[in-house]
Amino acid sequence: MYSATVPVVYSRLWRPAWGRLAKGPFGPAMSEERRIARLLLGLEPGDGVLDVGCGPGTFTREFARLVGPDGLAVGLDGSPSMLARAVAEEGPDGRVAYVRGDAARLPFRDASFDAVCCFAALHMVAEPFDALDEMTRVLTPGGRIALLTTCRTRSSVARTWDGWVGQASGQRMFERDEIVEALEARGFSPVRRRVAGLAQFVGGRKR
Ligand SMILES: C[S@@+](CC[C@H](N)C(=O)[O-])C[C@H]1O[C@@H](n2cnc3c(N)ncnc32)[C@H](O)[C@@H]1O
Repeated sequence: MYSATVPVVYSRLWRPAWGRLAKGPFGPAMSEERRIARLLLGLEPGDGVLDVGCGPGTFTREFARLVGPDGLAVGLDGSPSMLARAVAEEGPDGRVAYVRGDAARLPFRDASFDAVCCFAALHMVAEPFDALDEMTRVLTPGGRIALLTTCRTRSSVARTWDGWVGQASGQRMFERDEIVEALEARGFSPVRRRVAGLAQFVGGRKR
């Protein structure tokens, strides 16, 4: 994404529309998404938090406010125009930083962050399980992860529909338990999940 208008269209229209389509008509609104992120990440003043696939930084800025003057929120994204938009938005001075990079090759040392968030991005990453490895690696022991991603349904009729949605949109549709199992296999416990339509919120603590 290199056009400057794309991030604006994205944050005002595409992201809310994607959310509504994936989460269903009665699924959580954007304000509820923020509440779930806060709950799963359990951010405290002084924490370091990484927002993977941060887009225009909507969540990163909020995290920066939560971690306060002694904390740091880092947004990472592969798109220069998304990052330009994130930097242009006003955020708490000195507590927020943006890095261009690949979710599957995070440019940070092991155990650098107390919490990692990846909302609405994992299903767009070409190597999502490498990205999960990386998010696990950069978390401190006891660190929290919060994911919002896709989730396939169980019934065969609905699976025809969600398979088509995934193909048409170019987004990976994760099997119902794939992400929970992937986190458990990487040592997260307990792992919590809330399914909303074709989306799921998943959170866990690294042991
Ligand atoms: C739908 S946006 C989500 C933005 C934000 N997390 C939110 O919830 O509003 C997905 C973002 O993931 C980024 N992305 C996709 N694949 C990526 C990768 N491999 N590495 C880093 N960022 C990636 C895209 O550039 C895009 O900005």
